[in-house]
Amino acid sequence: MAWRKAIALEELKPNGVRSVEIDGKPVALYLLGGEVFATHGICTHALAFLADGFVDGDTIECPLHQGIFDIRSGKALCSPVTKDLETYAVKVADGEVFVDID
Ligand code: FES
Repeated sequence: MAWRKAIALEELKPNGVRSVEIDGKPVALYLLGGEVFATHGICTHALAFLADGFVDGDTIECPLHQGIFDIRSGKALCSPVTKDLETYAVKVADGEVFVDID
C-alpha cells in the first residue's frame, strides 16, 4: 500500500463530498457516519466531478445526468451509469486523511 496524505479530517463535512487531487488523480472524499470513504473523482459516464454532486445516504448522485453510485462500493446503481467507480482504501491518523490510490 502507498498511503498519500489527502486532506485534514476537519475539512470534510458530515454527509458531504469534497474533491482532492492525489498524484494528479481526482479523488472524491466523503464523510459518512464519521467514517471517510474515497472514490475516483470523476463520473464513469462522462466528464463530471462527483464533488459537485449530491450525497444522499450512502450514495452520490452525479451532477450532470443524475447517475447514482454507492459510495462505499463504487457500484453503479442506475442509468445512465453502468460502470462502477474505483474506490480506494482510507485511513485517518493524527487528524489527517490518507488514501491508498495504488
Ligand atoms: Fe455522470 Fe452522466 S456524467 S451521469
